[in-house]
Amino acid sequence: RIDEFDIRALPKAEVHIHLEGSFALIDILTLAKESGSALPGPASTIFDITTHGAYAAPEVTTGGGSGVGAGGLTGFLGFLDWQCGLVRTREQAARIAYSFAARQSSAGVRYSDVIVNPTHWNAWRGRELELMDAFAAGFDDAEQDGLCVTNMAYSLLRSQSAIEAEDIVGALVAARPRRVVALSVDGDEKVSGRTGEKFQNAFAAAASAGFHRTVHAGESSGPEGVWDAIDLLQAERIDHGVRAIEDPALIKTLIDREITLGVCPRSNVSLGIYRDWQSHPLPRLLDAGVAVTLNTDDPAPLGTTLDADWAVAATEFGFTYDDLAGFAERSIDASFANDDLKATLH
Ligand code: ADE
Ligand code: ZN
Repeated sequence: RIDEFDIRALPKAEVHIHLEGSFALIDILTLAKESGSALPGPASTIFDITTHGAYAAPEVTTGGGSGVGAGGLTGFLGFLDWQCGLVRTREQAARIAYSFAARQSSAGVRYSDVIVNPTHWNAWRGRELELMDAFAAGFDDAEQDGLCVTNMAYSLLRSQSAIEAEDIVGALVAARPRRVVALSVDGDEKVSGRTGEKFQNAFAAAASAGFHRTVHAGESSGPEGVWDAIDLLQAERIDHGVRAIEDPALIKTLIDREITLGVCPRSNVSLGIYRDWQSHPLPRLLDAGVAVTLNTDDPAPLGTTLDADWAVAATEFGFTYDDLAGFAERSIDASFANDDLKATLH
C-alpha cells in the first residue's frame, strides 16, 4: 500500500478538472447564504453530493440515488448550473478561484489547467470575459500566497452554435484574457450529437492565434467523437477519450500524434460510463502505449480529491509508486504550462 503522504508529495499537475466541479461544500453554503437561495432539497442531499459523490447514474446505482444526485451526466450538469448560478459578484468569483487553488494545493497539485465553461455561470451572460478576469484575480492571489499555479481553458458548451463559438474565439483573440491559454469544448455528447464540424472554424481560429486546444470526447460519445476532436478540432489533448479503446486504428493514431488523454476513472464510474473501476479501460490504454494522465474531472461533487483517486487507482489497478511517479511526470509534460514553468514543476 502506497502512503498517501508520498502521493501528495509527488510534484504533479492536473489537466482535466472543471472549476464548476470544484466548489467545496463550505463554498456552496456560503454562496447560498449570501444570495438568500435555498439549497436543492434537504441539506443532507448536498452533504451527500460533496462528501460521497451521490451521482451514481440510475442504471448502475447501488444505493438510493434520489433527488439532485440521480440522473448521470445530464442531471449532474444541471446541478453545476444551479451551483454556479449562485456566483453573482466579482469578489465571489475570485474567492471560488482562490478556493480552487487551495484545494488543489492540499492534494499536492502544483499546477492546474482548469476548464471554465461560462455558460454554467448564468449571472454573467454577456459579461463572460469579466468573469474570466475575476477568476484570474483569484488565481493571482493564490499564486502570490504560494498555492497551485492555475491557467484556464475557456470551454464552449457542446450545444452552442457555430456562430456563438466563432464570436467567443473572436473575443478571446482580441482581448487575450489573462491566464486563458486554451479553447475547450465540454457538455453532453449524447444530447448534442457530433459537434466537430460545427466548431471547426472556431478551433482553427483559436489555433492560429496561439491558443491550445483540449476537447471532451469519447465519454458520452464513442471513438467517432475522438476522431472528430483530432481531425477537425486540432485537439492536443482529449478530455476522457477512454472509449478510444474500442478502435485500434484510433489508438495507433493517438500514439503517432502524441495526443494525451485526460482520463478520470472515478468520474466515469460515478456518472455511469463504466460499471466499476475493474471494467475501466485505463490499464488497457496504458498497455497499448497511449499517453494517459490521471485526473478527477469534478472532484467536489464527486466527493474526491486527486491524491485520494491516485491511491484508489493504485489499489484497483495495481500501480506501484514508480507508476504514480510516471503519471506525475506525464501530467506536467502534458500540461499547457510554458516550458520555463514546466522546468520548475518537475
Ligand atoms: N462538465 C463538467 N464535467 C463534465 C463531464 N464529465 N463531461 C462533460 N462536461 C462536463
Ligand atoms: Zn470533464
